[in-house]
Amino acid sequence: MKERIDLLRREVEKFGSQAAAEVETFRVEMLGKKGKITSLFNDFRELAGDQKRDLGKPLNELKKFAQEKINDLKNTAAEDRDQESGEDLSRPANFTKLGSRHPVSLVKNEIVSIFQRIGFNVSSGPEIEDDWHNFTALNFPEEHPARDMQDTFFVNREPDWALRTHTSSVQVRVMENNQPPIRTISPGRVFRNEAISARSHCFFHQVEGLYIDKDVSFADLKQTLLYFAQEFFGPETKIRLRPSYFPFTEPSAEMDVYWGLENERDYRMTKGTGWLEVLGCGMVDPNVLKNNGIDPDVYSGYAFGIGVERMALHRFQIPDIRMLFENDVRFLEQFKAAY
Ligand code: DAH
Repeated sequence: MKERIDLLRREVEKFGSQAAAEVETFRVEMLGKKGKITSLFNDFRELAGDQKRDLGKPLNELKKFAQEKINDLKNTAAEDRDQESGEDLSRPANFTKLGSRHPVSLVKNEIVSIFQRIGFNVSSGPEIEDDWHNFTALNFPEEHPARDMQDTFFVNREPDWALRTHTSSVQVRVMENNQPPIRTISPGRVFRNEAISARSHCFFHQVEGLYIDKDVSFADLKQTLLYFAQEFFGPETKIRLRPSYFPFTEPSAEMDVYWGLENERDYRMTKGTGWLEVLGCGMVDPNVLKNNGIDPDVYSGYAFGIGVERMALHRFQIPDIRMLFENDVRFLEQFKAAY
């Protein structure tokens, strides 16, 4: 019996075919119902107890050895077959490459959704505006420097069309067509005739906010902006309001968010102050309400304008605004998992 085991072991060792059909024939010859190894097991059952003790182990090992060898050969045969047909059916499918949302869109959508959650609706206006909607109705004096050629891309003199320099023009369009209560935000693209640099571009995006009702106060503005800052930057975020000037608000302010001042990057981002300038805001000037058919003795309101690119640069730590508009896929792909 021991000799037969050794003999079969050598036979298995020698077998080397990789053709699938031959491997299968060999399996039947060894391990099939009437196979050589199977019949050894049948004989083994007839043996006396002490012989069983000696031969059980080598016999089991032989069977295991044969099974493993046959499995290996079958796998190699399968791979060979795949290679012949040029296809690997076990490969994952080729998925169509999905695009990703632009970082400016991601941030704009986030800002919009923060204000929608507290009851603001969304409004929009044209990118080419007349002087009335972009300047005059917003209380820009006739000789105000913001009307200077340097800032504005003029399209036409008669009629006086220009590319809008801010989304505050949408405020005017909303007030023209609605009476208070008004709660609206207006995301959109704006244009300025400015030198392009790491920090500014000749076109960018803003989200304008406008709230008009009876008894709206500066405290309402401050609380709303605090809510916004904490939703966007995190629940512990601190803000400060600095006095400022805009023709269409009185009083006017700029809001900063505390960013921190711990390392070199913080110094660079906050110009050494620890604070990030985030938006302009104020109480809507009574002249603006009057210009647009809303009675300033009955109603008051606040407004604000957020620069979307600036928020995107903070959010994603992007060092140069121009990267947002180069359409380099290697850059854009990095925002796939951002939201
Ligand atoms: N329009 C201003 C700008 O372009 C931003 C702004 C400031 C909008 C104050 C407002 C506001 O509505 O109240 O810089």
